[in-house]
Amino acid sequence: MRQNVEIPAAEELQKQKLYTADMAAIMQVRARGAVPMAFVRTYGCQQNVADGEKIKGMLAEMGFAFTEDENEADFILFNTCAIREHAEDRVFGNIGALKNVKRRNPSVIIAVCGCMMEQERVAERIKNSFPFVNIVFGTHVIHKLPEMMYTAITDSKRIFVRGQERKEIIEGLPVRRDGKSRAWVTVMYGCDNFCSYCIVPYVRGREKSRHPDAIVNECRELIEQGYKEITLLGQNVNSYGKGLPEEINFSELLRRIDAIDGDYRLRFMTSHPKDATHELFDTIAESRHICHHIHLPCQSGNSRVLKEMNRRYDREKYLSLIAYARSKMPDLSLTSDIIVGFPGETYEEFQDTLSLIEEVEFTSLFTFIFSSRPGTKAAGMEDPVSYKEKTVWFSELLKTQEAIAAKRCAAMVGSEERVLVEERNEKNGLLCGRTESSIIVEFPGEDTLIGEFCHVRVTEARNWILRGEKIS
Ligand code: 5AD
Ligand code: SF4
Repeated sequence: MRQNVEIPAAEELQKQKLYTADMAAIMQVRARGAVPMAFVRTYGCQQNVADGEKIKGMLAEMGFAFTEDENEADFILFNTCAIREHAEDRVFGNIGALKNVKRRNPSVIIAVCGCMMEQERVAERIKNSFPFVNIVFGTHVIHKLPEMMYTAITDSKRIFVRGQERKEIIEGLPVRRDGKSRAWVTVMYGCDNFCSYCIVPYVRGREKSRHPDAIVNECRELIEQGYKEITLLGQNVNSYGKGLPEEINFSELLRRIDAIDGDYRLRFMTSHPKDATHELFDTIAESRHICHHIHLPCQSGNSRVLKEMNRRYDREKYLSLIAYARSKMPDLSLTSDIIVGFPGETYEEFQDTLSLIEEVEFTSLFTFIFSSRPGTKAAGMEDPVSYKEKTVWFSELLKTQEAIAAKRCAAMVGSEERVLVEERNEKNGLLCGRTESSIIVEFPGEDTLIGEFCHVRVTEARNWILRGEKIS
């Protein structure tokens, strides 16, 4: 399946529709009249979740229903994540375990896709060590799933496709969304930033923005269908618009979506601080639907480490951005990603991260110990601090953030919050949802409230989770 000349998106989509119809017929025969079953497991970030929903959309069009049990599946797919070594190890372990599933059911088709598969060393390892995997494909060819499945079955051969990045985005793939009240909408693909620790630019390719009309129309449809929360996705949403024929930036895109009437809220991730503008914060402050919550990963609080990370902002710039944002929105909730133990980081430099999180008082943090990713610049840097030592720093970070989160939550007791109810917590029987600031709130209530907005009075703070009672 070599591809030298890029087939126009509409033509490619049409071609895949034909394979979809063929696959539906083939699967009917293979499943001997029963409904063919697919098992799809997604690892990693929301972008992967969004890709997984497209994959399920295509499978549903081929006539598949979905199962959580690998042993009753006719098709098994793992959609993988490459961000840290630990994530990769877990995937390899789980792929290895499929050997027994294949032994019990030799006709099952096994596919592995996602960021890991864009790396040659990983694809090679699957080729050599996991002969029971039928299809291996990267992030750029999701839309070719029907063709890859068709070829794997009819030619009885293993399929390997990676590195086929397209210039033109394929619009119009079917989507089977996991949620009924919250939806993901990708606004841009890829990343051009090359933070020195990060594998994403190598496995997701160059930045490409979707046409604004396609995004606004998708959001409008979701709102009409009753979705209550839309999260716009991109590795760096703040550089949205680069390369589009129309001159448009992310703030303008937000204003166009916010202009859609309805009872919904809007979030987005991820924002790179180097591209976060005053216009962006003004837009959020003036909007009707955008949550006063921004995920703005600082990664480190030390300017030398930030420079080594190639983040292209320093501590002062980050803090001044936040000061501006809070001057416009005193209720702004901030969350961040932090990396502990970047190569060459000293304990004193790590203390700057602690002082930054104490100064900003983030609502919550996603915290990671540095993981060396082959092929990135940081993988070649000297890394004298032991992993064990880094885990000690990591615990210190968690302890500091826990105290901050507990203090922020305690200050909310007595307040009224608008909560989007997501599910029932099976352990304690309470409904569970999130505030606009993305804090979890639990309260007693009926199942009919799931998927709806509720006004809740906060009565108790349990570390970083709130308890409350419904008031309307
Ligand atoms: N090691 C540790 N954390 C990483 N991240 C990205 N690459 C690495 C790595 N090599 C973290 C960053 C990023 C988040 C999605 O994952 O904090 O913001
Ligand atoms: Fe990775 Fe940096 Fe791109 Fe985020 S902005 S995906 S951390 S390279």
